[in-house]
Amino acid sequence: MIRLERLLIKGGKPLHGSVRVSSAKNAVLPIIVATLLPSTPATVLDVPDLDDVITICSVLESLGVIVKKQGSSLTFDASGLNKSEASYELMSRMRASFLIMGPLLSKMGYAKIALPGGCMIGSRPIDLHLKAFEALGAKITVGNGFVEGYAPQGLKGTTIYLDFPSVGATENILMAAVLAEGRTIIENAAEEPEIVDLVTFLSSMGANIKGAGTNVIRIEGVKELRGISHTVIPDRIEAGTYMIAAAMAGGDVTIENVLTEHLKPLLAKLSEAGVKVIKDIDSVRVISDGNISSTDIKTMPYPGFPTDLQAQFMALMTISNGESKITETVFENRFMHVGELRRMGASIQVEGRCATVRGVPFLNGAFVRATDLRAGAALVLAGLAAHGETEIGELHHIDRGYDHLVEKLQGLGAEISRVE
Ligand code: UD1
Repeated sequence: MIRLERLLIKGGKPLHGSVRVSSAKNAVLPIIVATLLPSTPATVLDVPDLDDVITICSVLESLGVIVKKQGSSLTFDASGLNKSEASYELMSRMRASFLIMGPLLSKMGYAKIALPGGCMIGSRPIDLHLKAFEALGAKITVGNGFVEGYAPQGLKGTTIYLDFPSVGATENILMAAVLAEGRTIIENAAEEPEIVDLVTFLSSMGANIKGAGTNVIRIEGVKELRGISHTVIPDRIEAGTYMIAAAMAGGDVTIENVLTEHLKPLLAKLSEAGVKVIKDIDSVRVISDGNISSTDIKTMPYPGFPTDLQAQFMALMTISNGESKITETVFENRFMHVGELRRMGASIQVEGRCATVRGVPFLNGAFVRATDLRAGAALVLAGLAAHGETEIGELHHIDRGYDHLVEKLQGLGAEISRVE
């Protein structure tokens, strides 16, 4: 759903108060896809209000799943699953939709899916997913913009080594393997908290999975899964974004519904940058006078510094008191925010996967545009700290992944609004 609104921010106001983090986008999407697997309805509680959630629900509905909304809960009844084809129109909106391939192959023995779209950060191939499906016994063909998979005799467990600990591939294999015959072992699996949450959901429905959160996951196939209700983990990237907002704009902000153990690299880096961070059981308080020391970061798969916070951290470094190096190792083209931050007065040089940021005393408000979800978040943070007015276009990128961003920031005293 593309809206033609823009965000207007009057910068320079410190932030105060508390903000509650919503359920994790990157956990809720695979969990919704996993509701294709049980033979009875499953419910996801506290679903965040995000365009990506609307998209994944449309994908499931197009396959014959009945989706019922009650307050912030969604119930998925896949007993009428009758289609295993997904069009380009649906798939082009969001890359995570490709996660339906694993469950469809396992449940229907066939899937025909348009090659995925999503944020334009790097080439984002799906070779690891496809190699894994082949190893599980599916016959895969790619042509005319579609991936087709056949497994008429069902999938059979095997050992799969991932060349890179891909989050999506690990999730797709998990969902393919839980109902497959025998044992599947995923080596060099992704260890992200969102993988652990997906496994918690699958296990509660009757799946037999060991090792989630480590780099080797073992799955013993079972005959059937039964739907349950599940509450998704808090969004560590949303939490991190508000932490950086408080650091950058200055002020005293408590971020609630946070699992701080999921945010260790950011907590360490904010402390290095001179920001005061006080941890509590499920909240974190950030106190900053806006004086930021420069510090380097390098993105890595979990438990390293998350690539999904790289753009926001770079925004913070633009007003630091020195030079910092930002190295992006997960995606090869994730510096699209650089050009926009420069429009606001930032000094950044990019060479390959490394950006050198020389801190300036302040940023100036400008007209900028969100080029992808997290790049958009970085511009919001820059706008909150900048002198003058910032206007951010292409808001639809931000609406994909931040639940009530404007209202939450207004609650902290920010001057931010949507304009036509
Ligand atoms: C997920 C997250 C995204 C996050 C990323 C890395 C969701 C919905 N999205 O994306 O927000 O930025 O993890 O933490 O959870 N790769 C291949 N071949 C493949 C698959 C991936 O080469 O078959 C490469 C990608 O191009 C990329 C790297 O592996 O360079 C990481 O991708 P991956 O972990 O798969 O990210 P996503 O699951 O797409």
